[in-house]
Order: sequence, then C-alpha cells, then structure tokens
Amino acid sequence: MQKRTIRDVAWAGKHALVRCDFNVPLDDKGAITDDTRIRASLPTIQYLLDHGAAVILCSHLGRPKGKVVESMRLTPVAARLSELLNRPVLKLNDCIGPEVQASCHAAQPGDIILLENLRFYNQEEANDPDFSQKLADLADIYVNDAFGTAHRAHASTAGVASYLPAVAGFLLEKEIEFLGNAVNNPKRPFVAILGGAKISDKIGVIQNLLTKADFLLIGGGMANTFLKAKGYEMGDSLVEESSVELAQDLLAQGNGKLVIPVDVVVANAFSADATHQVVAVDAIDPGWRVLDIGPATIKLFDAKIAAAATIVWNGPMGVFEMAPFATGTFAVAKALAASGALTIIGGGDSVAAVEQAGLADKMTHISTGGGASLEFLEGLELPGVAALNDK
Ligand code: 3PG
Repeated sequence: MQKRTIRDVAWAGKHALVRCDFNVPLDDKGAITDDTRIRASLPTIQYLLDHGAAVILCSHLGRPKGKVVESMRLTPVAARLSELLNRPVLKLNDCIGPEVQASCHAAQPGDIILLENLRFYNQEEANDPDFSQKLADLADIYVNDAFGTAHRAHASTAGVASYLPAVAGFLLEKEIEFLGNAVNNPKRPFVAILGGAKISDKIGVIQNLLTKADFLLIGGGMANTFLKAKGYEMGDSLVEESSVELAQDLLAQGNGKLVIPVDVVVANAFSADATHQVVAVDAIDPGWRVLDIGPATIKLFDAKIAAAATIVWNGPMGVFEMAPFATGTFAVAKALAASGALTIIGGGDSVAAVEQAGLADKMTHISTGGGASLEFLEGLELPGVAALNDK
C-alpha cells in the first residue's frame, strides 16, 4: 500500500485517535450478535498499546441521523472490547467537547478510551471541518482502521486527516492489499462471482471486473435480467426491466467472459414451502419465479472455480435464507473452499453464506466491508484511504 501505516510512527507517549468500524449488529436487547468487526480491530489496538500509545477509539453505529439514539450508544462495544483485550475500556458519553477533551488529554500510555457514536452529530456525515478539528484536538496522530466505512467521506474518516498526521491501521492495510492484489495484480485465471438481487446496484462492479477478470460468473436475482436480455421468458421472476438493455450491452462487451445460468430452481411462490423444481432457462413457465441456480449451472460454475487461481465473490446465488433455495450459494462456498485458489469474500451476504456453510475459516480473506468492498471492486478511490498520508 502506498500509504503510511502505524508501523511508520514512533508511538511512545503519543495519543492515537483510531477510527474503527464498530457498526456491529445488535439484537433487540442491545446484545452484539456478531463481533467480527470488533475482533478485526484488535491487532491495531494491541500494537498501539504495546508501543506505548494512549488509544482513543471512535466509530459510528447505525444511522442515528444527527440525534442521540439510546439504542445506538457504543456501550455494548466497549464491554465486548474490554473482554477481548482483557483490560478496562473507558467509554465516554460524547465524542467531542471539553469533558471529552480533558479525558483524552489525561489518558496515559496503555489507556483505552472509546468515544460515543460519532453520528449523534450531523457534522460527522457532513464532513464538517469544525467537527473534524474538534476530533483532531483529542490526539496527536490519526489512524484509520475502519475499512467498512472507508467509502464514506465523513469527518472521522476523511476530514480529520487534514488536521493530524494520518496513517492506516492493520485492518485497513490488510483489506486494501487483499482486494487490491486480487483485482489489479491477480494470479490467473481470475474468476469473479457476483450475485445478489439487482444489476443496477453492481453495474460499476461488473464493468470494472469485466476489464480485469478472466470469467465473471453471474447468479442470484441479477442473473434474471441477463437471462431476459438473452430473450428468455422469466415468468414471475424478479427482472429489472430498466436494466435489460444494459445487460445486453454487458453481455456483448463481456465477449464470452460473462457466464450466466443454464438452469434454475423455480418456485410457484416466494416462500420456503412453495412448490419448486429445476428447469432449463428456456423452460420457465408463467406463474413461476427463479429463486436459485440449478445443478447444471453449479457444475458449470464449479469447473471455472476449480481452474481458478484467484476468486472474488460478492452476493448469493439464490434466496439462501430459505433452505430449498440455498443449494447454489452453499455449493459455490464449498467449491471455493476446495479450490486451492486465493479466495476473497467481498462483504455482505456472501460473508453470512460462508459462515452459515461453516466454511469461513477455509477462505483466504473475508472482508469486513460491504459497501466499501463493492466500491473498491468498482475501481473507485475510497475517501478514507485517499485522505491518509502517502509513504
Ligand atoms: C457498513 O456497515 O457498511 C458500514 O459500517 C457503513 O455504514 P453506512 O452504510 O451506514 O455508512
């Protein structure tokens, strides 16, 4: 990576302001249901502590839209962090202001402070310079380790870097290196697998990957629009009519690189107990909808995956939340696990799928960023990375 990292700083006696992505899912009792993002931040925090820094952590949680929302306080995150680090974490009830400043300035090497949810202030998402300056006033050096939020140009991810030396943490560095090497310098064959509901969400990703990958395997709801573009009747399937023409262009542009389903699982309703069957893509009758890829498509995808040296996967192949339509998605997860290739799971639903399949530990890298990894795969510059000091 071309950016300075925490390795490039002499930390003894310094105060580090560390932007993490602690936007973790909570249940209705406020308990954390997946602490992956908290655990992923530990190497950076531990390194800073080991090198004599006082650590001031900050993050958003949810989308409180500039107001204090009790259920979006970072208190459960502080408790979990403290358990994982086995040391106290001082959780403050605000993220700026004189009291926060006093606590941060008084912090000693080895102390850990967690500020309150940054998005309780509108100025965070507005990337307000005054708010950025107030955050900067809390520390000597800024560290961005929030890969999951690096696609946002907010005060704590971008603005603050104008007021302090700004370096990357280990998680940010690792994500950029894995995703960056896979896309820009892949061992070939490089196979990208894209799924999810809509083409329109991923046009930029498809266009960028068409210039980089050897094959692009398309499943999930978005495959329906490609099938429609090839002239097949899609029954009651989800099709983005407004993207059919675009899908035709992409197929032409892809020149054989785009691999779409040859058979599908159709159901007579959108429900786990609907009647379902496997049909060829030219045999989808009115009243039926596509909810998964079929066995011949799995075989076709398996062959491409088995021959690949680098694989990036984003988006499920079907409605994997319903058991009868999870086969395609889990088959892809299994094929990746068995492939011997460098396998990168690009955030969001595909992460949930590999976890449900019990295969997460078989993947080379699982990204902690959903939107951020998509923007990266699209070839866009992430503001949270761009703002950091160059090496
Ligand atoms: C995420 O969960 O994708 C990140 O934390 C960013 O959250 P946001 O989409 O609310 O900006």
